[in-house]
Amino acid sequence: MSDGHVLVARQLTKRFSPDRPPAVDGISLEVSRGEVLSIVGPNGAGKSTLLQMLLGILTPDSGTVRIFGVDIIRHRRRVAHLINYASTDLSLPYSLSVRENLEVFALVYNLPQPGQAVSEMMERFSLEPLAKTKVGRLSTGQIARLSLAKALISRPEILFLDEPTATLDPEASAEVRQLLLEQVRKERLGLVYTSHNMREVERLSDRILLIESGKSVACGTRDALYGLFDCDNLEAVFIRSVNQARQDRRRDENADK
Ligand SMILES: Nc1ncnc2c1ncn2[C@@H]1O[C@H](COP(=O)(O)OP(=O)(O)OP(=O)(O)O)[C@@H](O)[C@H]1O
Ligand SMILES: [Mg+2]
Repeated sequence: MSDGHVLVARQLTKRFSPDRPPAVDGISLEVSRGEVLSIVGPNGAGKSTLLQMLLGILTPDSGTVRIFGVDIIRHRRRVAHLINYASTDLSLPYSLSVRENLEVFALVYNLPQPGQAVSEMMERFSLEPLAKTKVGRLSTGQIARLSLAKALISRPEILFLDEPTATLDPEASAEVRQLLLEQVRKERLGLVYTSHNMREVERLSDRILLIESGKSVACGTRDALYGLFDCDNLEAVFIRSVNQARQDRRRDENADK
């Protein structure tokens, strides 16, 4: 693409209920090849809703999402093979083994060499010792690894991850971060992800989008955000920016009364 962006979203808005404010309110963003964009904000800020619209599984009330220039809302089938998704909420077939799960997804994604793709992922995510274990018997951390393997088996150009390390212990989180970074660097994968772990976000992100009550508060590199909010760590940026956004919102609401 001429502008180098693999994903461009403009003015996305989604309201679930007429008597509540929009869950996502006029958010725009873009992602380049090999870039990690983190979406950060308080519980209920609209991160998962935003991710679902970027993925084309939730239709926005207004706004556009283009993946490699293709409108995902109108032509999802044309770009579906270029994107993939993993989340802690995603349920994988419980009665199938780890290997069978990957085999099913290799078929679903219509991969040219499914056996090879399954073996590669089993190795990369250290799943071989669990090959015959049924998903229902895996630990949360093991499920997280399998979800990532499932998401990467289709060799997506853009990967969306909703809190991929939320259920992992510190060592497993570090391992997943390392695997993701390798993928981003090696395959020039675009990664859009959410997390409440600010230290992780600092380490992993090229840029960070801060949202509060469905609205964009700030977007930029870690250092740009430090400068903007006069802080030296992301947790402090989070607290300061969210409080500031809430105060601004209350002031505007009172002015409207
Ligand atoms: N399917 C839905 N129907 C109605 N309301 C919804 C739906 N999904 C989300 N919401 C509402 O939209 C708002 C944003 O929710 P969302 O799940 O996007 O937040 P989040 O930033 O991902 O939060 P968390 O950090 O807790 O995961 C919340 O007020 C939530 O109650
Ligand atoms: Mg969420």
